[in-house]
Amino acid sequence: MKKNRFSVWHKELTDSTNEDAKRAFLENGLENGVFVADAQTAGKGRRGRSFYSAIDGIYMSVLFQSELGPEKVVKVTTAVSVLVAEVIERVTGKSVGIKWVNDLYYRNYKVCGILTEVIPNSDPNGHPAYIVGIGINLAGTGFPEELKNIAGVLYEESVTPEIKQEIIKGIVAGFENLLDHLEDYDYISAYRARSIVLGQEITCYEGNCVRNAKVVDIDDDGGLVIETEEGAREVLRSGEITIRVKN
Ligand code: BTN
Repeated sequence: MKKNRFSVWHKELTDSTNEDAKRAFLENGLENGVFVADAQTAGKGRRGRSFYSAIDGIYMSVLFQSELGPEKVVKVTTAVSVLVAEVIERVTGKSVGIKWVNDLYYRNYKVCGILTEVIPNSDPNGHPAYIVGIGINLAGTGFPEELKNIAGVLYEESVTPEIKQEIIKGIVAGFENLLDHLEDYDYISAYRARSIVLGQEITCYEGNCVRNAKVVDIDDDGGLVIETEEGAREVLRSGEITIRVKN
């Protein structure tokens, strides 16, 4: 029988499960593991932002060593967004879409964010360690004012512990499979099918540059193919976008 790569550690409260994973790796030499918390006091988001983590949610981070170089971080995160969307849908019956790069949306509100951190040259062969943090808003209210129009929950009232456990179990099992097949796993067609930005008019934010464009495709590496207002085609590999609402 195949041995599970991941042991799961659970805490009621932590600062950040990504930090738990980092400490386990840097201070205790752990190579693989899953760190789960019921709540976080200092949840981290992308681009140095914080991630609100005080409602009934799943806050978990997966630590693993990989031969994939740090340049594959987008590929890993994109594949994980498909995995998490599929698990949520299977367990809850609720259909979630993906907003490029890797935010999951349910009924126009963000219900899940993913933050991947890479620790380069972490073993004698120069391979990196990856930490993939996943935050899922399950149920509850009380989002801070600035998030009220953006963040949402999967369940209006409450969620059972069984559903929570099933989602965590599904993600851990999916990770085992994903890491064995990342090079040959065709997640991009599933990613395209779940995209909520394909065909949409968007605004792109890259550093100080803000411009409008239309999304015409997602390439095989997860890049966003856009057509600018001047009619030029470009591929975005990073940055932020918002969907423009038509009047
Ligand atoms: C984002 O939307 O900007 C990414 C948010 C990632 C949040 C998760 S919650 C579990 C893990 N621990 C953290 O501190 N962050 C990630």
